[in-house]
Amino acid sequence: MTRPAPRPGILEISPYVGGESGVPGIAEPIVLSSNESALGPSPKVVAALQAHASLVHRYPDGGSVALRDAIGAANNLDPARIVCGNGSDELLSLLAQIFSGPGDEVLYSEYGFLMYKISALAVGATPLSAPETNFRSDIDSLLGKVTEKTKILFLANPNNPTGTYLTADELERLRDGLRDDILLVIDAAYAEFMSERDFDAGAALVDKYENVVMTRTFSKLYALAGLRLGWAYAPAWIVDLLNRVRGPFNVTAAAQVAGVAALSDPKFYEAARVHNDTWRPWLSAELEALGLKVVPGFANFVLVRFETAGVAEGALNALKLGGILVRAMAGYGLPDALRITVGRAEDNQLLVASLRAFLDGVTNKKAAPNKVGHKIVGPAS
Ligand SMILES: Cc1ncc(COP(=O)(O)O)c(C=O)c1O
Repeated sequence: MTRPAPRPGILEISPYVGGESGVPGIAEPIVLSSNESALGPSPKVVAALQAHASLVHRYPDGGSVALRDAIGAANNLDPARIVCGNGSDELLSLLAQIFSGPGDEVLYSEYGFLMYKISALAVGATPLSAPETNFRSDIDSLLGKVTEKTKILFLANPNNPTGTYLTADELERLRDGLRDDILLVIDAAYAEFMSERDFDAGAALVDKYENVVMTRTFSKLYALAGLRLGWAYAPAWIVDLLNRVRGPFNVTAAAQVAGVAALSDPKFYEAARVHNDTWRPWLSAELEALGLKVVPGFANFVLVRFETAGVAEGALNALKLGGILVRAMAGYGLPDALRITVGRAEDNQLLVASLRAFLDGVTNKKAAPNKVGHKIVGPAS
């Protein structure tokens, strides 16, 4: 029997597996597996969505005009050069679709965000990764992998899952090392968490060059992951291309309303950023104090490495039994690591106490105790 065949590459895709969000028998697990916001959305977002509820029979504004205006005003960017998407994932996929196909190569760094490989395979292009140095994208290694077939270089900055970033100067060196006919996509999903002086989300490079696009998301600091809202800032000619291929109503009206409301509450999100700035270093220090290796990273998560893949898996399972979900990293080629999202104060404290209990159990060669008996002191706030 014959049946329609998928295009080459499609069956090579291992479907993206998101972070777990449920534990059987536990009503409200602590979810630290998907780099979602610890503090949730602003009350202004909730009110705007409630007010919008009776209007869902209406199609969205296909141009996301009010939202693009708000994004432009908040980031000091020209709204005409912004395209909104159904999450930044959609925009990454559209860029792969526009600029690459069978016979082309799509480049990213060794532990780069998994969607780059998936987006390349989905359009029949060949994904290629370049080794990192100390869990950091390596410019020379990336440039060394460029061939005449390279069409796109995707770079998450800071990267997920490593949390490391390239400085503004390094980004420019990377761009300068690329041919002008290769698209550099700077995926700055975690830019809102960054206050390092040498960091730039990428808008300056977009303004300066014709082959650079920056993508952003409302899923992380702005806590709208469930609504799916991202945006790209691009040269006008790429904006035109994205607008040709995207769906006419790719961003829901609810997402647009929520995005505008989120941007109207900078105070709330500044508090969320400060929370992250307080608790990520605390989490790193506590995990190191447990004898674990933490990749020195940024954003709203930590990548922590265990003695062996078996211990990492044991820790994942022990945490899950206690109702705490973190992310396994085998899919990224890091089976000895777990990625842990910064949570609320009490989540972070319970996580550390639970890991300590598990590791004590490993050391003592006996089952990890179930009870958490430690009083953990948080950072001065
Ligand atoms: C580096 C990176 N880029 C893009 C995304 C996708 O974000 P969105 O929810 O906007 O599709 C994520 C989500 O985890 C991410 O970590």
